[in-house]
Amino acid sequence: MTKPIIELKKADLTLGDGASSVHVLKGMDLIVQRGESVGIVGPSGSGKSTLLMVLAGLERVDSGEIHIDGNPIHAMSEDQVADFRGRNVGIVFQSFHLIPNMTALENVAVPLELAGRSDAFAVARDELAAVGLAERLTHYPGELSGGEQQRVAIARALAPHPAMLIADEPTGNLDTETGKQIADLLFKEQADRGMTLLLVTHDHKLAARCQRQVRVRSGEILKEENTDDKAAAVA
Ligand SMILES: Nc1ncnc2c1ncn2[C@@H]1O[C@H](COP(=O)(O)OP(=O)(O)OP(=O)(O)O)[C@@H](O)[C@H]1O
Ligand SMILES: [Mg+2]
Repeated sequence: MTKPIIELKKADLTLGDGASSVHVLKGMDLIVQRGESVGIVGPSGSGKSTLLMVLAGLERVDSGEIHIDGNPIHAMSEDQVADFRGRNVGIVFQSFHLIPNMTALENVAVPLELAGRSDAFAVARDELAAVGLAERLTHYPGELSGGEQQRVAIARALAPHPAMLIADEPTGNLDTETGKQIADLLFKEQADRGMTLLLVTHDHKLAARCQRQVRVRSGEILKEENTDDKAAAVA
């Protein structure tokens, strides 16, 4: 059996101090295989975004282990985690997180340039063309629709060819039709690149498009459902 891309063991995290402290992750275990798509669902405040942040190395756990492709990111320094994330993890947020005074092309190319890529602008052009934005390279985020801004964010996330893409409610700010187009793009890229996709969503239809669903409640993973098995059982 091949090594899982994600191995989360007894991840425990409390955020905030004193009276406002919240036990956000209560000893979570999660294993995800390379190339899988996993929908993460659960009520507001249950810890879904925090789980993604921990897997991306953007939030540290108090105890437990996080192995990404066999690399123990819980044991790395901040600099090592940042470097690892830049090469292996793509992240897409609900609110796009583009830099407003950079063009679409610069938003994708500059992070690559900072990572030392001499072909940053050529790669960025190709990635933007792949998400259907070849005609929008010199537009600023404020001159793009929400769906187009999310495409730029996806191109930026995909440009380093990460082994895994983490998306936190990527369609949450989009209308139904635009959201569907963005979801189609994410699943197409996941399949084409053999990439692992972790998708947090409140949209049950979208979650059901993933191969597997993970349900989070009050900082715990409740149960796992195999979407394929469920579909087979219904058929
Ligand atoms: N810095 C912090 N200090 C204290 N509590 C925090 C902090 N950050 C998050 N929390 C709490 O942790 C819990 C989990 O938050 P998280 O953002 O992971 O939830 P979520 O499942 O993504 O919710 P939503 O579906 O609304 O996005 C929430 O109750 C939140 O208030
Ligand atoms: Mg959230």
